[in-house]
Amino acid sequence: MTDAKAILDFLKDRRTIRNFEDREIPDEAINMILQAGRWTPSAANRQAWEFIVIKNKELLKKLWDSKAVFSPSFQTAPLAIAIVGKINENKNWYETDVVLASMQIMLMAWALEIGTCWIGSMKRDKSKEILELGENDFLLTILPMGYIKGNIPNPPPRKELSQISRIIN
Ligand SMILES: Cc1cc2nc3c(=O)[nH]c(=O)nc-3n(C[C@H](O)[C@H](O)[C@H](O)COP(=O)(O)O)c2cc1C
Repeated sequence: MTDAKAILDFLKDRRTIRNFEDREIPDEAINMILQAGRWTPSAANRQAWEFIVIKNKELLKKLWDSKAVFSPSFQTAPLAIAIVGKINENKNWYETDVVLASMQIMLMAWALEIGTCWIGSMKRDKSKEILELGENDFLLTILPMGYIKGNIPNPPPRKELSQISRIIN
């Protein structure tokens, strides 16, 4: 039986991490993270995505040095995963599918005590060029990942449920 309270605590405890230890992530952990992406629900089960694990230090440095990505988290991340939607494989839903996949990937990383940061501040065209992606590729984000360095940040406050939800009886 799933422990719902434990899952809620897990979701509440996940934090965005921007500073990483200089420590490699084992292949077994990478595999589990990718499996979490693989098992994401997708529209009509088309699975219109590709997850590109970037371990190459020069490529990571290039993304940061060229300002293709703006987050300093790229300076310490031992790897990053590019989340790519395959436009032709599901024209109406590829964006939604990859957003969901990015979340599953972040959560599995957190379960393995690996931190991630969802990157919105990026030049998509420049990043696509560096990653040699094609016209059919929608680059949603590139998630830097690594073991957490220092303290886990305090949770940024959330709006109250009364502000963001209502019940229609
Ligand atoms: C769509 C999206 C874009 C984001 N872009 C960035 C970003 O470019 N740089 C960054 O440092 N954090 C980024 N974040 C992380 C948010 O700042 C973070 O999730 C938010 O402050 C809540 O903190 P928490 O994830 O620790 O709960 C982004 C998050 C989301 C969901």
